[in-house]
Amino acid sequence: MAVRIVIGAQWGDEGKGKVVDILSAESDYVVRYQGGANAGHTLKFDDTTIVLHLIPSGMFNGDSNCVIGNGVVVDPISLVDEIEEVEKLNVNLKNRLYISSSAHLILSYHKVLDKLKEERRGSDAIGTTGRGIGPAYVSKVSRVGIRMSDLLNEELLKEKIEKNLLDINSALKSVYREEPLSSSTIMEELKPVIEKITPFICNTTKLLHDALQQGKSVLLEGAQGSLLDVDHGTYPYVTSSSPTAGGACTGSGIPPTAITHAMGITKAYCTRVGNGPFPTELHDENGELLRKNGQEFGATTGRPRRCGWLDLVALNYAIRLNGMNEMTLTKLDVLDSFEEIKVCTGYRLDGQLTDDFPLDSDQVQRVIPVYKSFEGWQKTTRDISSFADLPEKAREYILFLEEFTGVRFNIISTGPKRTETILR
Ligand code: GDP
Ligand code: IMO
Ligand code: MG
Repeated sequence: MAVRIVIGAQWGDEGKGKVVDILSAESDYVVRYQGGANAGHTLKFDDTTIVLHLIPSGMFNGDSNCVIGNGVVVDPISLVDEIEEVEKLNVNLKNRLYISSSAHLILSYHKVLDKLKEERRGSDAIGTTGRGIGPAYVSKVSRVGIRMSDLLNEELLKEKIEKNLLDINSALKSVYREEPLSSSTIMEELKPVIEKITPFICNTTKLLHDALQQGKSVLLEGAQGSLLDVDHGTYPYVTSSSPTAGGACTGSGIPPTAITHAMGITKAYCTRVGNGPFPTELHDENGELLRKNGQEFGATTGRPRRCGWLDLVALNYAIRLNGMNEMTLTKLDVLDSFEEIKVCTGYRLDGQLTDDFPLDSDQVQRVIPVYKSFEGWQKTTRDISSFADLPEKAREYILFLEEFTGVRFNIISTGPKRTETILR
């Protein structure tokens, strides 16, 4: 049975939520494996639009079991808001949502520190989502993190929070000149959510191992994108987890030998939210048109997304990093009105032509993209349900992408709705 990872091939917001929603119809399990409520995954079906931040995008199409894996950092307050939002859509989460007892919690001190650290960075700010992601992974790696299983013993939980606050309050006072935080206030915030969340907490590693043994199909839903990976992205302008394929194994407990497919998701152009290098970024009317046609505003923070042409140097890097053996192309329709469409096929770095994506962000900042130009098709692609019915120039564009990357584009998305999709 298929064990498929769905991974963003760019800087996030590629349309992973839409694709996972579609593929979940044939998946027994859908598993989030990293990140937290920094993610915003948009699903559109029937008359419903919902943006999911923590709950996997497999709740609405069929009856998959949805797992929040050990690699996710969970803000329990956001999670409860989201559970309630999903329940309002008449979805019963009982026996469908499973939260790893090993997943770490994001507490209010992580969110406070995220904001203060960003302010202190000044012009070097990363442009984080302010959801406490970086500080929560710091707690995890420093071995002072508080995990889902700790919610099951309130006395011990309070003790652990108090211990952590010794260090945090001393930093708040001496470094940031801020008021200290109190463990009682944090416990007060947590009490109502503990009751709501605890029924979902379990050993999801075992759950998934049993599922694999029974030959069930599993879909692993990445958040963010390959170029935001803490190891392989445009460091330090990255998130604090591993969205790439390796992260799917550590963040779920599923071994690499069980993975059968790695599906990359790329837009037909590029976007980025937050700071950091972006070689094909457009500061002209084409960039504006991409933002307008693509409604490129952050699903989590509402910030306008930076827009640019598709970067095939970066895409080939993501394909190799993840071993992507199938691709989805999203937002093809956003290019419908363009007279000319460009794709970046190489970089010039300090005068030298290269097709390698540099590992050093200063170098990525310096590259000058080399473009190949395509004539636009200038026809709508919305509502087209077969590849053969796409305008010829759109097909040529896609076939070029397949030839350049060496990977088949199995799914073409031509609109935000579940139905606006071509399956090849
Ligand atoms: P994710 O974080 O990767 O799940 O992506 P987001 O939900 O943050 O951003 C993708 C946005 O594009 C959402 O508003 C989707 O509804 C929308 N979207 C997805 N696929 C398409 C598409 O093919 N065409 C258009 N026009 N919009 C799309
Ligand atoms: P989805 O799953 C786009 C970006 C932030 C910032 C950097 C670090 O919807 O694709 P963080 O809050 O993680 O410490 O911020 O990463 N970022 C995203 N950009 N889509 C996302 O998620 C993102 N999650 C984080 O803008 O540049
Ligand atoms: Mg998003």
